Amino acid sequence: MNKMKIIIASNNVGKVREFKQLLAPLGYEAISQSEAGVCISVAETGDTFEKNAALKARAIYKKTGLPVISDDSGLCVDALDGEPGVYSANYDNAWLLERMKDVPADKRTARFVCCICYVNGDGKEHTKFVHGECEGQIAFSEQGENGFGYDPVFLYLDSRQGFKSPVHWQSQQHQSFAEMSADDKNAVSHRGKALREFVQKLEGGW
Ligand code: IMP
Repeated sequence: MNKMKIIIASNNVGKVREFKQLLAPLGYEAISQSEAGVCISVAETGDTFEKNAALKARAIYKKTGLPVISDDSGLCVDALDGEPGVYSANYDNAWLLERMKDVPADKRTARFVCCICYVNGDGKEHTKFVHGECEGQIAFSEQGENGFGYDPVFLYLDSRQGFKSPVHWQSQQHQSFAEMSADDKNAVSHRGKALREFVQKLEGGW
């Protein structure tokens, strides 16, 4: 059976890799916008994850007329009132660690947020959204080599390990996303959660 082809509206190599890893076993063929011959960069002028995800997906859909998914995502840090959030792509780990250098361990909670926008076309454009979040805490220094972006400074909080409070959690050994295998990160990440919901909705007749 032919796999359904979906274009990933992103030039971010790390994101594209994760989309492919996540969608292949679910029976979808994900190809990047550059593999589809679309070499544009869409300005992220929105002030929400949804607006930016829609800008990216619609722009690529207009060029290809094929089903497209985009992802706008970011890291929201409680001690920074949700920053860098929707502007995460403008900063890096050094900036974050500097901003967080005086914040104690029990105040370093944060979450990755992902909004996936799906645009398909059976004559007219339909736009749908799914969301995923993943809780964690900001490390005091970079840990690990895997992944991309903020992965080395994001300590994953595994609620299945009986998490009660940041203080309880602090006393345990935690891995950063960059220390986890791709499969382990995808199983719990904001993007993995959103994508699994996306596939469920698609199969439910979206
Ligand atoms: P945007 O969605 O293109 O605005 O970029 C989001 C930015 O958030 C990326 O450039 C990364 O810095 C960061 N980011 C989003 N998801 C992840 C992730 O899974 N790991 C690490 N950083 C991420």
